[in-house]
Amino acid sequence: MQTIQSVNEMQSHAIGLRSSGRLIGLVPTMGNLHEGHLSLVDIAKERADKVIVSIFVNPTQFGPNEDFDKYPRTLEADMEKCRARGVDIVFAPSMSEIYPPGYSTYVNEEKLSAGLCGVSRPNHFRGVTTVVLKLFNITRPDIAVFGQKDAQQCAVIKKMVADMNVPTEIVIGPTARDADGLATSSRNAYLTDFQRQDALTIPRALQEGKRLVDQGVRQVDRVVAEITHQLSLSRRIRMIYVQIVDRDTMEPAREIIPGRQIVCLAAWVDQTRLIDNILL
Ligand code: PAF
Repeated sequence: MQTIQSVNEMQSHAIGLRSSGRLIGLVPTMGNLHEGHLSLVDIAKERADKVIVSIFVNPTQFGPNEDFDKYPRTLEADMEKCRARGVDIVFAPSMSEIYPPGYSTYVNEEKLSAGLCGVSRPNHFRGVTTVVLKLFNITRPDIAVFGQKDAQQCAVIKKMVADMNVPTEIVIGPTARDADGLATSSRNAYLTDFQRQDALTIPRALQEGKRLVDQGVRQVDRVVAEITHQLSLSRRIRMIYVQIVDRDTMEPAREIIPGRQIVCLAAWVDQTRLIDNILL
């Protein structure tokens, strides 16, 4: 496995791979790799000849009072996991490689980014689309794999790729869950055992909502009310939003049409912000 830190080196290497006919698969990450990321690596390996994992904690997607400083940075362990999983290249640039002094260009998707997490994290998706487009320009991937857990991020990136004519196929891998049902996330590392027990209310509440839909309920309010009620049973959880939206456009649903929509949820578990979702 190769480790590359320089943007120029990564870009010329990727251009070389492409001109020799290799298909490049990229898994963009902020490190602290867990099974969720590694399941995306497996998908990339099935679809591409060379798999690149990028590891970069991107400051522009964090708000001023968010967890950028304390976000777990575990590069050595991450590289070991990548090596064991058969990754070809880890691209781990420094801050000044990605955002050199004087950096001033940003990519902003203006519609799908506006709701859900966009309300409580106003510049978050602008940071995501900016760094993802930069990573695409640097690593020249034929496919890039993202996790369904970040449903809005997936929709925003697909839209950015379509709007900006980026020649990269966006592949979405299913949400990986730990044995207890919690969606894997680097932020789970912030949870104490007690907080984690409460956090399990999140996937259970989503399952309850899905159960109603499977029983034939089609009223959005009824399903949202049930999920909200389930969350309120846990004293450590403060709901940020629960919304049923179209899975591609992120537009709020008026009535439930199974197969087309998704329940998106964000909640605080004490000081930790978690998101999850379930397809209806
Ligand atoms: O999902 C993430 O880890 C990040 O948002 C991403 C896509 C790597 C961009 O920094």
